[in-house]
Amino acid sequence: MPAYTASAPGKIILFGEHAVVYGQPAIAVPLSQVRARAVVTANIPTGQTGGERLASPPTGLSAVIVDAPDISLRTTLADLPAQHPLSRAVLLVFEALHVVKPPSCTVRIHSTIPLASGLGSGAAVSVAVIRALSAFLGHPLPLEQVSALAFEVEVIHHGTPSGIDNSVVTFNKPVFYQQGQPIEILKLPAAFHILVADSGQSSPTAVVVGDVRRGWQADPSGYEAQFTTIGDLSRQARQLIESGSPDSLGPLMFRNHALLSQLDVSSPQLDSLVEAARISGALGAKLSGGGRGGAMIALVQEQDAARVAAALQEAGAAHIIQTTVGRAGKR
Ligand code: PMV
Repeated sequence: MPAYTASAPGKIILFGEHAVVYGQPAIAVPLSQVRARAVVTANIPTGQTGGERLASPPTGLSAVIVDAPDISLRTTLADLPAQHPLSRAVLLVFEALHVVKPPSCTVRIHSTIPLASGLGSGAAVSVAVIRALSAFLGHPLPLEQVSALAFEVEVIHHGTPSGIDNSVVTFNKPVFYQQGQPIEILKLPAAFHILVADSGQSSPTAVVVGDVRRGWQADPSGYEAQFTTIGDLSRQARQLIESGSPDSLGPLMFRNHALLSQLDVSSPQLDSLVEAARISGALGAKLSGGGRGGAMIALVQEQDAARVAAALQEAGAAHIIQTTVGRAGKR
């Protein structure tokens, strides 16, 4: 019995998180060192091999098993709340493909992307599930539709998502993203090196996005001004990246971090990791993703990577990933 597998990378936001929710541009790149994987197999009656064995064949949503050992979840779709991100992803695929009688199958999910840490785990899981399940059903969906369905699931994760996470994860390319505009894939004439450090604090994006929204409602013009400044940083960063000068991005990253701190989406732990990166010789550093915890990123010269990584570890980073933006994308 064939297994239909799809995987999707994590992501980091280089510039523009939060401001992107309010129409400003942002830049994100895939992080392929961490991935979500979904495998869909048909359930088969006892006595046969392959797939999941079931004594009596259930019907309807009970026929679909959702198995996510990473979060200790194993249940049928009938027993999973419709607003659970995994049911939402599966049900959106059934709806898109007009499936009225779901086939008896198991959707198994495994992810190495840390949860609630700004690395896009929610979007990657959704994209992997949508791709594997639509292939299993005989109609692999085009990437635009995969991204659009994953956006629907992002509403559960982020409240008011910008769409950047589902876009970068689906297309698996560095993107310049602005709501309402076609996604632009960035040209990367020169590679650059990023360290991604986990602050060790998990921070659900929806909570932080909700707090920023309340701040914006209380002081719309003050917040809009900050968002516009952040959007300008994304535009300048794009120019530097596309003109082959990524090593000049550092000051823009420090500035973006300071602006995010003013929006109250940093944390003492993130601030001290950014400071440790600066002192140990990183070209630039900032929080990445929803903030208040989760990931920070540091731009480094290749020869300085080990020293900056050691300083981040010393400052309490839980887990550090080194990634090369540009070269890996061309593989
Ligand atoms: O925390 P993450 O990895 O889900 O990134 C969120 C990025 C935000 O700009 C804060 C929200 C959004 O939907 O763009």
